[in-house]
Amino acid sequence: MKINGTHYRSVWLADDDHTVEIFDQTKLPFEIQTIQLRTMQDAATAIKEMWVRGAPLIGAVAAYGMALAMRQESSDENLRKSYDILVKTRPTAINLKWALDRTYQALENTQHSLREATAYRIANEIADEDVELCRKIGEHGLKIIQSIAATKPTGEVVNILTHCNAGWLATVDWGTALAPIYMAHDAGIKIHVWVDETRPRNQGGLTAFELGSHGIPHTLIADNAGGHLIQHGKVDLCIVGTDRTTARGDVCNKIGTYLKALAAKANQVPFYVALPSPTLDFTVWDGVKEIPIEQRSGEEQSHVYGITPEGTRSWVNTAPQGTFCGNYAFDVTPAEFITGLITERGVCDASAEGLRALFPDLCRKP
Ligand code: MRU
Repeated sequence: MKINGTHYRSVWLADDDHTVEIFDQTKLPFEIQTIQLRTMQDAATAIKEMWVRGAPLIGAVAAYGMALAMRQESSDENLRKSYDILVKTRPTAINLKWALDRTYQALENTQHSLREATAYRIANEIADEDVELCRKIGEHGLKIIQSIAATKPTGEVVNILTHCNAGWLATVDWGTALAPIYMAHDAGIKIHVWVDETRPRNQGGLTAFELGSHGIPHTLIADNAGGHLIQHGKVDLCIVGTDRTTARGDVCNKIGTYLKALAAKANQVPFYVALPSPTLDFTVWDGVKEIPIEQRSGEEQSHVYGITPEGTRSWVNTAPQGTFCGNYAFDVTPAEFITGLITERGVCDASAEGLRALFPDLCRKP
């Protein structure tokens, strides 16, 4: 994806071929600052503190974290310890565990002297594959937007609502929910995106930054505005990403997604979820009961980052001193509220049958 005309990925290797570089997403959209990760612990901190975020990206960074660990020390003990530290950094997005399992399984039977090179190879593969999966999601999602555009009088804009940031900053490139939007815009379809602010961490600002960099018309809205817009015919479809999707098609995503899905269903507005297969968790059936929901610091709720007129970043308190704050980072939208899942293999129903038909090689019978 491009920033000021230059193509970037959201994670890459420095010229020395082992230092891992990322954008500090806590500084975006105000400052474009890169951070160098040199140790496994750096990678763990980057994920935990959300310098990087978004399910596919944290999977890729965790894989690079294993490579950094093997560079530091390739013993069995360090392999196990690094896995344990990285897997605990964030509990909800399954891509993290998927990437760590894949790396661990390859390394455990690799001789120590080859572990560092093997781990970098796998991390690079995971990153490259993610770009390709997201590109394919974009192609399949584009067809949905094209079909909605075809029902509109010529020249009328397709209005799409999205929640959180499921763009290239949340993946290695392209994004999941935003990939079809980029492709639709590039294909000449007139689109406009309603961007949910996504409190408490304001990932909507990241989405607005991405869409702005790509020249896509968009409007940042308060999280509570979606129901009103949907009810008044101002939304043609919703597309969101996901951190974990269960065997029966329940979707866990950023807190607030469920409310948008309810409003969409009540008003017969299509609600799509875009995901690469590493986000599928066939070991889980009932998302509401079984998916662990990350709870983060109450300070993220009581405070908000912004930029002052002088251009300095500021951390401002918006709650009475001492208020107890809850900060639930994700919620689960049951499959019945979802129109379809946009995957790299095509679009399917959010159901066990739909997922089984597309992913017979991955699914496990309940
Ligand atoms: O807490 P975050 O910012 O990591 O949450 C990100 C999301 O909820 C995204 O929608 C999800 O990871 C899908 S990203 C392609």
